[in-house]
Amino acid sequence: MQKLGSAPSRRKPSADRIAGAVAAALLVSADFTAIADEGSLRPYTIVRGSIPASLTGAAGDPARGRAIVLDRRLGACLLCHTGPFPEERFQGTLAPDLSGAGSRWSEGQLRLRLVDAPRLNPDTIMPPYYRVDGLTRVGSVWREKPILTAEQIEDVVAFLSTLRD
Ligand code: HEC
Repeated sequence: MQKLGSAPSRRKPSADRIAGAVAAALLVSADFTAIADEGSLRPYTIVRGSIPASLTGAAGDPARGRAIVLDRRLGACLLCHTGPFPEERFQGTLAPDLSGAGSRWSEGQLRLRLVDAPRLNPDTIMPPYYRVDGLTRVGSVWREKPILTAEQIEDVVAFLSTLRD
């Protein structure tokens, strides 16, 4: 707090950083909204840090999953991640490289990470892709919809599983 009559303090750089982060978050959530077309979530069971069963009961399509990962509006994974995508010039620097993710993690671990990353790490910046609560920044039209559909989650899981070292 600033005392009355004292010299006005200069704006702290941290305030700028916070404002920037909020703007970025809003931008990100705007990017993350206009996407899923599924009204309700399929139930799933978490077993020891993983969701072992497919959300749809079927295996996903790795080629479609790759397209979702690269799509700047759909998965937008490359806002944060790098990966084995030589055709992509701009890749993120905020998260681990996705190369080898299929060797490091089981399919079920990858599925839980995508569905609800904050459940594994409450401080993560990775958004929950298959959750509808807690998305307070999105417009009311989108609050009932996950970022990705169950089918899209399965496609991305199938693709990540192919990323072996
Ligand atoms: C806003 C940033 C951000 C976005 C967008 C994002 N992630 Fe992440 N992701 C992270 C961070 C940070 C981690 C590191 C672990 C943590 O924070 O919990 C991570 C971890 C992971 C991991 C585990 C990496 C490892 O091997 O240790 C995988 C797999 C992953 N993300 C996949 C994805 C996919 C697929 C997408 C897109 C559908 C995506 N992420 C979108 C930030 C992001």
